[in-house]
Amino acid sequence: MCGIVAYIGPKEAYPVVLKGLKRLEYRGYDSSGVALLNNGLKVYKKKGKVADLEESLVGKDVHAHIGIGHTRWATHGEPSDRNAHPHTSSNGKMAMIHNGIIENYSQLKNELLKKGYVFESDTDTEVLLKFIEDIQLNNECGLEEAVRIALKRVVGAYVIVLIDQDHPDTLIAARKGSPLVIGIGKGEHFLASDATPIIEYTKEVVYVNDYELAIIRPGELVLKNLGNEKITPFVQKLDLELAAIEKSGYDHFMLKEIFEQPQTIFDCLRGRLDANAGAITMAGVQNNIDQLKNASRIIIVACGTSWHAGLLAEYIFEELCRIPVEVEYASEFRYRNPVVHKGDVIIAVSQSGETADTLVAIEKAKEQGALIFGVVNAVGSSIARVSNAGAYTHAGPEIGVASTKAFTAQLVVLTLIALKVAHEKKTIDTSRFMHLLSELHEIPEKVELTLRSAPKVKALAEKYRDARDFLYLGRGYNFPIALEGALKLKEISYIHAEGYPAAEMKHGPIALVDEHLPVVFVATRDSYHEKIVSNIQEIKARKGKVIAVISEGDENISRMADDTIEVPEADELVAPILSVVPLQLLAYYIGVAKDLDVDKPRNLAKSVTVE
Ligand code: M6R
Repeated sequence: MCGIVAYIGPKEAYPVVLKGLKRLEYRGYDSSGVALLNNGLKVYKKKGKVADLEESLVGKDVHAHIGIGHTRWATHGEPSDRNAHPHTSSNGKMAMIHNGIIENYSQLKNELLKKGYVFESDTDTEVLLKFIEDIQLNNECGLEEAVRIALKRVVGAYVIVLIDQDHPDTLIAARKGSPLVIGIGKGEHFLASDATPIIEYTKEVVYVNDYELAIIRPGELVLKNLGNEKITPFVQKLDLELAAIEKSGYDHFMLKEIFEQPQTIFDCLRGRLDANAGAITMAGVQNNIDQLKNASRIIIVACGTSWHAGLLAEYIFEELCRIPVEVEYASEFRYRNPVVHKGDVIIAVSQSGETADTLVAIEKAKEQGALIFGVVNAVGSSIARVSNAGAYTHAGPEIGVASTKAFTAQLVVLTLIALKVAHEKKTIDTSRFMHLLSELHEIPEKVELTLRSAPKVKALAEKYRDARDFLYLGRGYNFPIALEGALKLKEISYIHAEGYPAAEMKHGPIALVDEHLPVVFVATRDSYHEKIVSNIQEIKARKGKVIAVISEGDENISRMADDTIEVPEADELVAPILSVVPLQLLAYYIGVAKDLDVDKPRNLAKSVTVE
């Protein structure tokens, strides 16, 4: 959560920082602010989106060659001007931005209050900055030393960036548990929470590791650990194009990302799947095939949409590989005392690769000797780096807060892994294996066909936009899709929605059904088809409104349902990759019909880097 940007070099800092904040707004948009050094420190901040800050700064002096900026997702203190970052030190000379949570902030704050410090905000960030200031005063040390001492006492997660008007040519940054990328230009440096604010200036980047401190002056980057020892920066080349992070003519990133899915799935399969030769090439799987094949258990840890992908993977792995699978919310797994054995394989699923709970969960499991296999979208992210092995989903940057293309790419990668392990383990016969490879091969084209339903889904969105609640039902492989459809609707349209296994409906939710309740059935042809047809009849008998996602030409359900959306016929194991697409579109169009900001839904942030 929260996006941070900083610049030092010959360019005007403010436009670079502002543009960077707009790129990072998906990480939080409760307030934003900038601090600039030019003949003293200037700090500007504003509640609301980055555009509000920009408007408030028209005509203000923003000239500077060193600057820091922040877009906030509130943790400590409500969204307001005074809680917005950057925060300033008591002497008014230093400014700091922070992404993360300082868990022992109240203890530090009490110590500082006793010393007479006054606080302008409710944030943990201001506490940390004043703690650093206090150390500097008491120890008569420089800022760099004070930061180092302070961070040794801090409990929690952070990326911080500081500027000090007494050192107008220096940026100091540090990281633990939250992401920080440094772009290296010609005589200039760019700092950001991810690479998107950096790529138009340079492709040379350094991913800062936990417990590292960066001291940056024009043209100079020094990395140190908290013990003050120098570390050689590992410079990497970014594999990311600017076009990938722009809207390219779409009204919203979410719509663009939904429509990108034929391509992203194709990219995800490229070089991995050879349907004719009957081969799957995945180095991460091949190099660990013995551990995967012989796993006593697979534990999938994830959050949100990624957890839904994990749930579907449970069905697929158990069916194909005959390995017991558990799917865990990372936030629960990390705090209970789970039993993890050496022979277990942990699959961490994450779009951002920065979700704090998932990261800590795998760190804990790693300590207990399990193999950590990351299924991650963001290249070079923390989860990718902590994992022992992995497979990227290659969906490209996902900017819309609601996950869409990353989800379908996760399903594809997880299915590929399961197929490869099953093939090696000989728990799948050759004809089924070949059939499923060819089904996967056809998925990009079938998603393309599915997207043709967009105008119909848009019309349905108009019809149902005023519903107060929705129920989403599915069975078997389509149950996780019902959960995902409900999550998308909640996030984007603020309509209460629940996903349920269709049979479970009779154990409670059926009490909600009346003529006002739309019930979305994910009812493509599969082994449970007859059962779900009965469930549809049960809803109709109680006057519920049925919207059904069906396989093309399913006359039977078409006659029963109030509305249907067809998807191409596909094997039940891969059909969920198709059936989720109309549900993504439905959430999107209802959000748009309600005039909501679908790319930045309230209270949410793309990357949940706090627990
Ligand atoms: O980056 P991750 O996949 O680890 O994120 C997990 C969830 O925070 C994420 O899927 C969230 O639920 C999305 N907003 C769903 O659209």
